[in-house]
Amino acid sequence: MKIIGVIGAGQMGAGIAQVSAASAYQVLLGDIGLEQAEKGKAGIAKQLNRLVDKEKITAPQRDEILARITPVADHAAFAPADLVIEAATEREDIKRKIFESVGQHLSDSAILASNTSSIPITRLAQAAPDAARFMGVHFFNPVPVMGLIELIRGLATSDDTLAKVQDYGRSLGKEIVLANDAPGFIVNRILMPMLNEACFALGEGVANVTDIDTAVRLGLNHPMGPLTLADFIGLDTCLEITRVLHEGTGDPKFRPAPLLVKYVEAGWYGRKTGRGFYDYSGEAPVPTR
Ligand code: 3HC
Repeated sequence: MKIIGVIGAGQMGAGIAQVSAASAYQVLLGDIGLEQAEKGKAGIAKQLNRLVDKEKITAPQRDEILARITPVADHAAFAPADLVIEAATEREDIKRKIFESVGQHLSDSAILASNTSSIPITRLAQAAPDAARFMGVHFFNPVPVMGLIELIRGLATSDDTLAKVQDYGRSLGKEIVLANDAPGFIVNRILMPMLNEACFALGEGVANVTDIDTAVRLGLNHPMGPLTLADFIGLDTCLEITRVLHEGTGDPKFRPAPLLVKYVEAGWYGRKTGRGFYDYSGEAPVPTR
């Protein structure tokens, strides 16, 4: 595998492009247009500049990594890719349209993958040209820092596809785990109930935002408290995944916390909107409850 296509130049897609280019792959980075793809590349340049400042990489290394990333304007540009990873908005209709469109341009040996955090892979594979060459490749945020990739096989994913994507993941220096195509896969199946429970605890007045986060951070040695992490992931994303777990299993233990639903209804999605369980408008986040 030499050429990696990444569709979606937001936080996840840019991270995937960055780590792929840093591992010597040529990267084609696309989004809804060239402007967005170029903006994604500019964000990667900023991240790499920080690494230069910290003396983790040299300026020539930064330039080499950036030179391997080509922003592209449309799906036809992905024709030479060996593997295309979709990291677009977490909406099934959008992802399906992308697979149908880019699928028309790919070679007969190319692999299509989705970075979906919760949509069933077997179902998404129906929009790909060949379900045997389709699978889930779930990265974690921030991609350059997090050491894990979850790989998810759809019902029809071939052994060859799995082996090639496994090799790619390992070449990025990430640990690989294999998950079945079950709601939430492994990490979100375990993480989201914890974040959701923190929302129940806050809503029921067990403790305030600061104390819930401090309790989990220091009492369980987690790098972030659950409410900080939920804001970091995006409360809309947390709610969406929790709903997938609830609907996919039919188990009431996954029902979303009313406070989480309310915050999403209010448009308080966390960091990305400037307000969630914390207010991000000032220099440091301020708890809102
Ligand atoms: N991009 C790149 N690098 C970043 C970064 C970012 N967005 N944020 C932090 N870093 C780097 C820093 O540069 C620093 O690097 P260094 O050690 O080489 O100097 C290192 O990470 C540590 O950062 P900081 O010292 O600034 O801050 P922290 O020690 O608090 O670490 C954190 C920040 C790595 C984000 C840490 O708090 C953490 O691991 N939090 C949990 C993240 C997590 O759980 N992610 C998974 C979310 S779930 C998911 O993605 C699945 C999806 O489907 C929902």
